[in-house]
Amino acid sequence: MKFLLVLSAFASLAAAQMAVIRAPPAQSTFAPGEQFIVDVDRPDTLTGSQEVSVAIGLLSCAGQAPPGTCDGIDTTEEIGTPLYAGPYTPQLRPGGSDLFQNFTVAVPADFPSGAAALSVAHFSLVGARYWPTLEVLTETVFIS
Ligand SMILES: *[C@@H]1O[C@H](CO)[C@@H](O)[C@H](O)[C@H]1NC(C)=O
Repeated sequence: MKFLLVLSAFASLAAAQMAVIRAPPAQSTFAPGEQFIVDVDRPDTLTGSQEVSVAIGLLSCAGQAPPGTCDGIDTTEEIGTPLYAGPYTPQLRPGGSDLFQNFTVAVPADFPSGAAALSVAHFSLVGARYWPTLEVLTETVFIS
């Protein structure tokens, strides 16, 4: 019982820490070779957490899912071509209350056209006990 309570406390802590992809908007369209900004946002919480890193990946869904979708694609198992992998050091958003970091990435020049899953894998240490936490955020974009 105590164990369960601890787990649910962790779960609510984790929910409070969740990062989001602020940009690009889901359903954005990019050309092969095009650069775009991935804006990874997280709340500036009081629970305390230490950021470690993010990996941003682009996975073609063409031929893997119903046309024009990424339905059924599990990005916790693969994030596709890494567009960025390295430190995450978000800063307070000017005029805002959340933390953000913009990453400029590029669609690989030979990337297949069609729907693609843009994923951000986010690794952080949460809370006073530095609970190692990995979350994967995903949205669907289109490659022209
Ligand atoms: C970060 O990216 C967003 C979305 O493209 C943009 O609106 C914002 O101006 C950028 N912020 C900085 C400081 O570059």
